[in-house]
Amino acid sequence: MTAEELLAQADAVAAHAYAPYSSYHVGAAVLARDGRVFAGVNVENAAYPLGVCAEKAAIAKAASEGLRPGDVEAIAITASPCGGCRQWLHEWRFERVHFRRADGTLATFAADELLPETWDLPEA
Ligand code: THU
Repeated sequence: MTAEELLAQADAVAAHAYAPYSSYHVGAAVLARDGRVFAGVNVENAAYPLGVCAEKAAIAKAASEGLRPGDVEAIAITASPCGGCRQWLHEWRFERVHFRRADGTLATFAADELLPETWDLPEA
């Protein structure tokens, strides 16, 4: 699946964003290695810090269906991923992270390029 096709799925699901406080609708679509796509949106809350980003919602959906890091290949996001989501993208080892920049252009990176030398839990 091309970056544009996956981003089109992220664009489509963004219509379901629950963002009554920011009015900023974000969609994300995770492509699994088996071809399945898991889409998620940002879900805000009146207690603002409790809101969930679209990337985390999409990854949580994949995890809920039994997927694990390594089972996913790519993710497309309708906006640049925030710092916290970059740590999630690192954990899930996405080979391709596609997102739409503020100027409308499409960016593609490996997850680790978006958060170099980040933290990992040391093995026991
Ligand atoms: N948001 C995301 O869904 N993903 C990001 O990576 C950046 C921010 C959402 C969170 C909040 O609902 C809205 O955008 C405004 O910050």
